[in-house]
Amino acid sequence: MLAIIGGSGLAQLASLEATHRKAVRTPYGEPSGPLTFGTIRGRPVVFLARHGYGHTIPPHEVNYRANVWALREEGVRQIVAVASVGGVRADLGPGVLLAPNQIIDYTWGRRSTYFEGGDVPVTHIDFTHPYSDALRQRLLAAARAAGEPLLDGGVYAATQGPRLETAAEVDRIERDGADVIGMTGMPEAALARELGIEYAAIAVVVNHAAGRGESTGGIAMDRIEAMLQATIGRARRVIEALAGMP
Ligand code: HPA
Repeated sequence: MLAIIGGSGLAQLASLEATHRKAVRTPYGEPSGPLTFGTIRGRPVVFLARHGYGHTIPPHEVNYRANVWALREEGVRQIVAVASVGGVRADLGPGVLLAPNQIIDYTWGRRSTYFEGGDVPVTHIDFTHPYSDALRQRLLAAARAAGEPLLDGGVYAATQGPRLETAAEVDRIERDGADVIGMTGMPEAALARELGIEYAAIAVVVNHAAGRGESTGGIAMDRIEAMLQATIGRARRVIEALAGMP
């Protein structure tokens, strides 16, 4: 089954014909909220709002382990994550959609593995290619079918938040090789890999990163919000097309 983890601006999926909601308990605590089950274009899909349905859980307090575990428990084998990001590269301005193919993790203090504690043997996952290329290719095909431009590849920098970055931090992140910056891509992607779930993401650029483009003098939060509202429907259409693919 396919799961969609919706980020800011995507607390529900209008196209999901919901059948029921289910609160799932996990050994790692409570997910961000109940899972919403339903169908899109006849295909079973589960939806989870990463920040809770009332958008109250900040990026560093999301229980990523419980979220991914709960989805796996319910039979999920693919996750498409939707996340708003800031664009680092000049050409990645507000309104661009991108399917990243790499990650740099700057987060800290998050519970980021299932392999810890007790008598769990030390386990190292391969994370050379953090996103499932098969699922990414399907997303790109879905975007083409939907007529929504979706850039193929890019390096996603995961920052701790909840504050936005300083201009110098963005300069450093760019020197490191990142293209977009968000706060929720990790440890979500790694946890999915630990559980053998295919994982891909649609990054929705809602602002130039700090110190860049229209954010040179600062980032206007109301403009981020407006951009998110204006753009998220396009991510939704890509997901609908994905669900409709054979
Ligand atoms: N930085 C980090 N996370 C973000 C940004 C940003 O500029 N925009 C949206 N999410």
